[in-house]
Amino acid sequence: MRITIIGTGYVGLVTGACFAEAGHQVICVDCDAAKISLLKAGGIPIYEPGLAELVKKNVDEDRLGFTTHTKEGVERSDVIFIAVPTPPLPDGAVDLSFIEGVARDIAGAMTSYKIVVDKSTVPVKTGEKVGETIKRYCKAKVEFDVVSNPEFLREGFAVEDFMRPDRVVVGVSSQRPVQAMKEVFAPYNAPIIVTDLNSAESIKHAANSCLALKISYINAISVICGAHRAPVSRRGAGLWRQLFPEGLERVHQNLGTTRLRLPAAQRSSTHQRRADGNVREENRRRPLGAQGKENRRARPGVQAEHG
Ligand SMILES: NC(=O)c1ccc[n+]([C@@H]2O[C@H](COP(=O)([O-])OP(=O)(O)OC[C@H]3O[C@@H](n4cnc5c(N)ncnc54)[C@H](O)[C@@H]3O)[C@@H](O)[C@H]2O)c1
Repeated sequence: MRITIIGTGYVGLVTGACFAEAGHQVICVDCDAAKISLLKAGGIPIYEPGLAELVKKNVDEDRLGFTTHTKEGVERSDVIFIAVPTPPLPDGAVDLSFIEGVARDIAGAMTSYKIVVDKSTVPVKTGEKVGETIKRYCKAKVEFDVVSNPEFLREGFAVEDFMRPDRVVVGVSSQRPVQAMKEVFAPYNAPIIVTDLNSAESIKHAANSCLALKISYINAISVICGAHRAPVSRRGAGLWRQLFPEGLERVHQNLGTTRLRLPAAQRSSTHQRRADGNVREENRRRPLGAQGKENRRARPGVQAEHG
């Protein structure tokens, strides 16, 4: 299928490269001209195992391209994914201005039926708002569908997670885009959960908060075990495997400790926010070395389903 990804950041670039690898024709759009120049010159703006090879291979085989022009991306594809940031505002609300801006840009460029898929993590009912925006700003008055397809990849394992998902969630408000969405994800052989727009958006928040719950729980157990000088790993390996099926070893490795606790700097309420991606925003504002790149790679085991 012909697919456009708007927002070539962590999620957008991984998604674009993995769709191209599956045989789709993909164009990645970003408003950051320096990033697009870098990608066009063969560079990669982020480190993610396997990503550079995947991008190079699919660019060489002519299935993956980059542009700064949203119009070009919209014209060339049938399915348009939105993967722009949704950072927190100072009052805790979500900044939806990137999504709103992209919805307007897509609307302005549409001249035929399109499927507009939101991959960014958004509050419930955002898909409905995106639909209203596109309807309002689409001068050509063509038909379209808005779909929600939340992303569950983990930084550090993004390519692996994308190529082997345990489920794909597709939220729709009509049956028309369902077949195309199934075709997009068919190469990955994963169960496709088709639901309504609001439910798909809710599923992402349920997954993120479940992760935060597991981390909080295991930290509490760790504190109790610590008080009795009983290493938590020896006391309940079976239980930990239920909580962290990716494996106890990997969690230990990622935390760099023999006890299942987040490092001191990440404890207290911070570890709750880690799970919904806010920590990443926080890290961006800190100098590299203190948190920055090291942190993005260091503890993916507890970062599962992030952003
Ligand atoms: N990073 C993760 O691990 C992860 C996982 C799941 C979900 N998410 C969610 O996915 C979304 C994207 O996250 P990310 O980590 O990829 O963000 P990111 O900041 O790495 O990338 C976003 C990209 O969008 C571009 N952009 C912004 N406005 C644009 C516009 N109007 N037109 C074109 N490009 C534009 C930016 O230049 C940037 O390159 C967020 O909602 C995030 O919460 C992230």
